[in-house]
Amino acid sequence: MTTAPAVSIKQLTRVFGSLAAVDHVSFDIGVGEIFGLIGPNGAGKSTLIRMLATLLPPTSGTASIAGFDIVQSPAMVRRHIGYVPQLLSADAALTGFENMLLSARLYGVPRRERKSRIESALERMGLAPSAHHLAGQYSGGMLRRLELAQSLLHRPEVLILDEPTVGLDPTARDTVWERVLELRDRFQRTMIVTSHLMQEIEKFCDRIAVIDRGHIVALGTPAELKAGLGPNATLDDVFIGLVGGKESEQKGSYGDVRRNRQALREHG
Ligand SMILES: Nc1ncnc2c1ncn2[C@@H]1O[C@H](COP(=O)(O)OP(=O)(O)OP(=O)(O)O)[C@@H](O)[C@H]1O
Ligand SMILES: [Mg+2]
Repeated sequence: MTTAPAVSIKQLTRVFGSLAAVDHVSFDIGVGEIFGLIGPNGAGKSTLIRMLATLLPPTSGTASIAGFDIVQSPAMVRRHIGYVPQLLSADAALTGFENMLLSARLYGVPRRERKSRIESALERMGLAPSAHHLAGQYSGGMLRRLELAQSLLHRPEVLILDEPTVGLDPTARDTVWERVLELRDRFQRTMIVTSHLMQEIEKFCDRIAVIDRGHIVALGTPAELKAGLGPNATLDDVFIGLVGGKESEQKGSYGDVRRNRQALREHG
């Protein structure tokens, strides 16, 4: 059986000044796949993801998601994707329910369906008891689940998750992953997800791309990536072998560190 890929990326490139943050990247993601994107700080993961989410225009190249081109038809792409950004996006001054209502309006969920969709999404994410508490009082794990619920209200085919488990404790991380797996298994949703935690990427992703300085340096299933490294190899070994030990001039800018620390503090 051949089905069109859920995501098809072709020569996608984004240049900032003299830096090619994403440099002629091409790959496809199949329907129902959980696709992991890993790489060191500053490798270009979020830049790639922001282009797919139509929030950042490519310098050149393009991608199609659910059959729509991100450059030609960004509005159609937005209808078919859910996006959870690396940084905190829920509004602390609103309740969980009010945050959901904002997203429902933003995504054009029909008015008469809003309440029932919000209630069932909050229920599914285990947030029904806290629906009317301020998001500012939620734990990091609850906030991430709220953001996941917000991104799902318009029933997108492709979910784009930038470090969905950053700053979460192991139990909260597992809960987020359980929800992600359920979305794939029950609704055939496609996911693209980044993380710095190799164990979770290895455990939950069907395929993985390793990105370094804007280039894809390896792509395959966890088993394929580990092949050749010995029977006890882990994805950590793959990562270190491919990108470890090299100094990257793209790494560790003050802005990156500040953004990551902020994410950790806000979610932690
Ligand atoms: N708006 C921007 N203007 C200028 N440079 C940028 C901008 N956004 C990202 N960059 C640079 O592009 C490079 C890639 O950044 P990006 O945020 O995509 O990396 P990342 O792989 O997501 O890193 P992290 O793991 O730290 O989240 C970095 O050198 C970063 O400083
Ligand atoms: Mg990032």
